Amino acid sequence: MNIIETRNLTKTFTSRTRGKGAARTVEAVKGVNMIVRDGEIFGFLGPNGAGKSTTMRMLATLLVPTSGQATVGGHDLLREPSRVRERIGYVGQSGGTESSLTGRENLMLQARLYGLSAAEARQRTTELMETLELASFGDRLVKTFSGGQRRRLDLAMGMVHQPALLFLDEPTTGLDPQSRVHLWAEVRKLRSAGTTIFITTHYLDEADALCDRLAIIDHGTIVTEGTLDSLKRAIGGDVIALGLDVQNGSVKRAQDLLLAQPYVRNAREADGGISLVVEGGESALPSVLRLLDGAEMPIRTVSMARPSLDDVFLHHTGRTLREAAE
Ligand SMILES: Nc1ncnc2c1ncn2[C@@H]1O[C@H](COP(=O)(O)OP(=O)(O)OP(=O)(O)O)[C@@H](O)[C@H]1O
Ligand SMILES: [Mg+2]
Repeated sequence: MNIIETRNLTKTFTSRTRGKGAARTVEAVKGVNMIVRDGEIFGFLGPNGAGKSTTMRMLATLLVPTSGQATVGGHDLLREPSRVRERIGYVGQSGGTESSLTGRENLMLQARLYGLSAAEARQRTTELMETLELASFGDRLVKTFSGGQRRRLDLAMGMVHQPALLFLDEPTTGLDPQSRVHLWAEVRKLRSAGTTIFITTHYLDEADALCDRLAIIDHGTIVTEGTLDSLKRAIGGDVIALGLDVQNGSVKRAQDLLLAQPYVRNAREADGGISLVVEGGESALPSVLRLLDGAEMPIRTVSMARPSLDDVFLHHTGRTLREAAE
């Protein structure tokens, strides 16, 4: 079953710049069509301002779409928002805990807000503090937590009412590598327990490590969607990275030369060299080396790899995720 299905979901903001008269419209989300399957970790990957949070906030009933439709957890987003709300948890980009309370008090409060009795709330809080390993610090004030501890509490807050679907908006941004890996493990545990996870990120390695399927969103539009494997396979070919001695236009010259070869699908400048997508890397590589050698273009380094998620992003958007961020 699909736990989320959207049809042409759109959000346009109209805002006024302070002090200036004219209203400005931003098409944040432009007709998004996608599905999220029951029980998977679904990733929403895209650069800053791509429309990830806006889409997620619409699906979590926090923003009303400008147009389009969606079902979430089997309920119509527009006609049955309260039924949708019962089935989902939402952890926003900046979290939703009260820093002058302890972790436990935050969870108790959240549980009571969701209508659990005091006894049920106590039991659920204890349970969550165990499964998410908050017990050793959870009775301290939240303002004393580390970033990673705070994000784990955020996760617990989203899980209080045992939702079938959990929305996580960039849960690991700003965390150190160890805390990130820890949080990924928690997310995988939730999936094993049957929760569907919808997670936004602008980290390629996170999408690679964590997600069963993902969609790439850019400028409010989904440019591709699929399993990690299918997205990488769809590009086809192999990626060859050449380090060249960069001087007076040699990179541009090498690029032109390479693009003229039938086995070269794409060649672009990258980090003082060239990144190539070729058909049949094993046989193409010697030809590439001979070609550049013959043209007296010295090669410093060579490496070959299967397409990465970055190559997928590049293929569909015409730039790398890092360039998109700049
Ligand atoms: N309330 C609002 N009013 C006006 N514009 C908005 C509003 N919320 C978002 N936007 C704009 O909509 C676009 C998409 O924003 P959104 O927050 O969805 O991006 P994002 O993909 O989550 O980015 P990030 O990775 O930085 O969190 C941006 O151009 C943003 O400035
Ligand atoms: Mg965002």
